[in-house]
Amino acid sequence: MPTTRPILEVAGLTKTIDSGSRRVEILRGIDFTVPAGQFLAIMGPSGSGKSTLLGLLAGLDTATAGKIVLDGEDITALDEDALARVRGRKIGFVFQSYQLIPTLTAEENVLLPHELAGERDGAGRARELLASVGLQDRMDHYPVQLSGGEQQRVALARAFMVKPPVLMADEPTGNLDTANGKHVLELLLALNRRERTTLLLVTHDRELANHADRVILLSDGRIAGDELRGESAA
Ligand SMILES: Nc1ncnc2c1ncn2[C@@H]1O[C@H](COP(=O)(O)OP(=O)(O)OP(=O)(O)O)[C@@H](O)[C@H]1O
Ligand SMILES: [Mg+2]
Repeated sequence: MPTTRPILEVAGLTKTIDSGSRRVEILRGIDFTVPAGQFLAIMGPSGSGKSTLLGLLAGLDTATAGKIVLDGEDITALDEDALARVRGRKIGFVFQSYQLIPTLTAEENVLLPHELAGERDGAGRARELLASVGLQDRMDHYPVQLSGGEQQRVALARAFMVKPPVLMADEPTGNLDTANGKHVLELLLALNRRERTTLLLVTHDRELANHADRVILLSDGRIAGDELRGESAA
């Protein structure tokens, strides 16, 4: 089997928050390595630290201790500006709370990362992506005019816009019905296969996790399970 270089290396990652007199240990030493192209699902009970972990990996939050190496670059050592640049180039991120810009339409929201990267002529791809998540009739709607599931799909289309080497998503099918959940799953799988995008998905969705190459189980801020699935386990 060819050895794949790691796209992500996480070592001794901890996150502690002091709120008043109380100290909350959210992540208590997380270690794992992700080879490029892997589809990794992160599961675990509510409050186990999944969103916190994903936020750290995406460089949206800073760790208390430990190291994150993204595509050979230690991102824990970077300042805000450098981090923002790495994020823009390497990571597509879908938040648990979508984070769409309220004053922009669905299409403009999807186009935004493309334009922030200084690219032009993205409208065609933006509309194609919106159609692929079933929103061809909602392109000109503003976020307040969209349902939760529709907003989630706009956020996914936006994350796909720049074809990032790593796509991170927090419960990408959490608010979708069966049909749209299946749509999004197919879109993610196509991206993973066709463009060799590494996928890091936090999910409670068994169906989604069944398609993953690997499932990491978090429990109380620690890795409680890490197993390869399907062909990757052979
Ligand atoms: N800023 C904060 N201050 C204090 N505690 C926090 C903070 N952010 C998160 N926590 C706590 O850290 C724990 C992990 O939160 P996190 O959002 O990572 O959980 P999760 O696994 O994503 O849960 P869910 O499945 O409900 O989304 C929770 O107990 C949460 O209350
Ligand atoms: Mg969460």
